[in-house]
Amino acid sequence: MSSHSLKVLVSADEIRRRVLELAGEIERDHPDGPLYLIAVLKGACFFLADLARAIRRPVRLDFIGISSYGSFTSSSGRFILTKGLDSSIEDADVVLVEDIIDTGATLEYLMEYLNRHKPRSLRVAALLDKPGRRTRPVAADYVGFEIPNRFVVGYGLDFAEDYRSLPDICVLDH
Ligand code: IMP
Ligand code: MG
Repeated sequence: MSSHSLKVLVSADEIRRRVLELAGEIERDHPDGPLYLIAVLKGACFFLADLARAIRRPVRLDFIGISSYGSFTSSSGRFILTKGLDSSIEDADVVLVEDIIDTGATLEYLMEYLNRHKPRSLRVAALLDKPGRRTRPVAADYVGFEIPNRFVVGYGLDFAEDYRSLPDICVLDH
């Protein structure tokens, strides 16, 4: 097995500051009614936890799970939902919380799934965005950081289930 090198791309401090800014934007855009934050397992779990605590109004949490046939480092565009919503989001304001948008195939699939549940509004918060890799016409409403076309791990993101608990977002070279 080849050895992996890790270089910090976005530090824990930068993440903390940016998450506070995103929380402020989400607050302003959703002044009333129930607000659901729906995180995609497992990569968005730390982002969700920090974002939810920085939004100074009541929020409700739910999780969806998705798995794509393909390699560890990209999605193939063929998905199975491994966990659906627990709660009804009908007529609620919803923010889908994602770790990273790469080709956009996952987000496209999840937007279709969530729209079938008839939310009042549906917006997307993505911690990271690799706009250079997009093949689908989707975009996030709130983006933490635009990053180059490099494979990153940490703060929830994994390579074959490793590195999720790193506090910084790091480029993985292998
Ligand atoms: P998409 O469907 O191509 O947009 O891929 C989105 C999913 O691929 C993300 O939710 C991640 O699970 C995974 N992914 C894409 N790029 C990276 C990366 O740089 N590091 C870790 N996971 C990634
Ligand atoms: Mg993943």
